[in-house]
Amino acid sequence: MKEYITKIKTDFDSDLVNIKTTQDIVDIKAKYIGKNGCITDLTKGMKDINPEERKKLGMLSNEIRKYVTEEISKKEEEINNAILNEKLSKEAIDITLPGTQVNNGAPSILEKVIEDFEEVFMSMGYDVVDGPELEEDRFNFELLGLPKGHPARDAQDTFYVKGDELLLRSHTSPVQARVMLSKQGKEPVRIICPGKAYRRDDDDATHSHQFTQIEGLIVDKDIKLSDLKGTVTVICKKLFGPDTVTRFRPSYYQFTEPSVEMDISCFNCKGEGCNICKNTGWITIGGAGVVHYDVLKGCGYNPEKWSGFAFGFGAERCAMLKYGISDIRTFYNVDLRESQTFDRKEEN
Ligand code: PHE
Repeated sequence: MKEYITKIKTDFDSDLVNIKTTQDIVDIKAKYIGKNGCITDLTKGMKDINPEERKKLGMLSNEIRKYVTEEISKKEEEINNAILNEKLSKEAIDITLPGTQVNNGAPSILEKVIEDFEEVFMSMGYDVVDGPELEEDRFNFELLGLPKGHPARDAQDTFYVKGDELLLRSHTSPVQARVMLSKQGKEPVRIICPGKAYRRDDDDATHSHQFTQIEGLIVDKDIKLSDLKGTVTVICKKLFGPDTVTRFRPSYYQFTEPSVEMDISCFNCKGEGCNICKNTGWITIGGAGVVHYDVLKGCGYNPEKWSGFAFGFGAERCAMLKYGISDIRTFYNVDLRESQTFDRKEEN
């Protein structure tokens, strides 16, 4: 029996050397310490042996079982480690390899310019309000001194949506009428309204059937044209740089009297003349004026007590000038590269 146990040990040792895979582990376990393994079998015949011998053999077989179990688990660990290491080395990441380029989105330039306007106006106590793009003829035209059949309506080639009552607003000025009516002639008004407007223009580098205006309206006591000039001057210096000079040219709008075109000195050539300002030294950025007597009256304000000014900046125009964009369609073609380029310009 003793020799048999020694033989088991020798056999086991030589089997162990050849163990390479997890399946080999399963097999060797079954062969020696499994239910029908040769070491398990040892104890089965013991009851027929005399107690003295049985004790000795018992000890020996326990020893061999302990030895075999330990050796197998060592081997098992070795194999598992080897498998893990191979897996890790296969999955290793070479951090020195160049990465895949990630294209970050960037805020739209137009949106940025609108936000700049909002920030400056809010710092001067203006509220930012919204108005519908699908507008009634009444707000878009009639309350602004443009009754049906008025020839000046033709200048704003309008998209009518339903009959002649519902349209895509051709400017953001209807918001003036809406805000004044909502206040019922009782409170001062100080708002800006950035938003989209639509006209039946053929799209080209400087025209788009959809564009953005930043409307503004102030109604209070003793508001004069000089207040408009002062406000616009401060705003433009903040938005386009401290050297910016503002110029008003006489103009005509049905809802303001007097009316003006707002020009700023060309920040590219500082008034010397270049291709951005078409050699005039000035750039037009919007229309404005003192709110017309009839508009105040029609919108519930007593023109003898109240007065105001209104303006409309062309947002794309301001953005094009600020970022040197030569084609208005740039804003409406979704091309990430454009905004990324401008984003970087801004950072530098
Ligand atoms: N609504 C005018 C336009 O679209 C601009 C404007 C706004 C003029 C406010 C005067 C006052 O051209």
